[in-house]
Amino acid sequence: MIRARIIGTGSYLPQRILSNAELAARVDTSDEWIVERTGIRQRHIAAEGEFTSDLATAAARKALESCSLTPDDVDLIVVATATPDQTFPACATVVQHKLGMIHGVAFDVAAVCSGFLYALQVADALITSGAYRTALVIGAETFSRLLDWEDRGTCVLFGDGAGAVVLRAETGAGTGDDRGILATRLHSDGRYNDLLYVDGGPGSTGTTGKLRMKGREVFRHAVTNLAAVMTETLGAAGLDPADVAWVIPHQANLRILEGTAKKLGLPIERVVVTVDGHANTSAASVPLALDVAVRDGRVKANDLLLLEAMGGGFTWGAAAVRW
Ligand code: UT7
Repeated sequence: MIRARIIGTGSYLPQRILSNAELAARVDTSDEWIVERTGIRQRHIAAEGEFTSDLATAAARKALESCSLTPDDVDLIVVATATPDQTFPACATVVQHKLGMIHGVAFDVAAVCSGFLYALQVADALITSGAYRTALVIGAETFSRLLDWEDRGTCVLFGDGAGAVVLRAETGAGTGDDRGILATRLHSDGRYNDLLYVDGGPGSTGTTGKLRMKGREVFRHAVTNLAAVMTETLGAAGLDPADVAWVIPHQANLRILEGTAKKLGLPIERVVVTVDGHANTSAASVPLALDVAVRDGRVKANDLLLLEAMGGGFTWGAAAVRW
């Protein structure tokens, strides 16, 4: 059978780092509160004139370099983002152009913080169907532009960044020992639209709007939903938590990572944590964390990785991937 294998990773973070101390000078918060409640110590902020497509293109180039491919080899680009440069065209076609590609297909997927998992399932399905052979799957965001910088309940939580993977069609035996994407599971439930949303949009207010969140309620759903979809996804691959080498989670809050690991009976040492340095970069956070753990040597050939994310919608999902 055809398997989609991740053969390359890359990421990009804007140069400017914004510390908790700097935020404490702007709103009524403190480094202690932010670290204790979230684990976040700093976040990266895109420069003026630096757009989501720039972050995405930089991450994509690094992912291609890591597996010695060029844009010529790519026939599909899927970008997960809630912060495209413009309402349209899709950010993915801007990335396609910036990579100098005049072939292939490029489109965006919108599922906010779960966007990368959604994009990964879409690309996996398109590759395993035989329609495409080599895909760039990118999560890229400039959430700093959606934040209300006077709302201490949200402005301390998010950052900008991008992560990318290269997926390639390979032949597998159809067992859990195959390298590549073994199973993906997604969920959404629109009843919870009003717990995490942006209060504007091109089709309603004609403005971009600002991010609004009922954090405590999102937190409560996150741990339950993530633990459930992680268990479901491992089951679909015929595997269980003891097989997992690394959890590569969405990085919203260290306490969510600890809570979900505990529910699965996994030690926190097996969870890749980048929330301290990146904060919540929405769709970028899973591929960013993956790239960090691949480049520092934690992720090794044949390791079982469990990717997961939850975000606005609600949307949530997981993927079991053998490295
Ligand atoms: O990526 C999508 C998924 N998003 C998430 O998963 C986010 C999920 N939610 C969270 O991570 C947490 O709920 C937060 C970090 C947002 C908040 O932590 P919490 O422990 O749930 O705090 P809380 O909302 O219950 O607020 C506790 C107190 C409140 O004060 P009172 O009402 O107890 O007097 C807040 O007003 O903390 C206050 N507070 C702050 N204090 C200092 C809220 N934000 C801040 C702040 N600095 N930045």
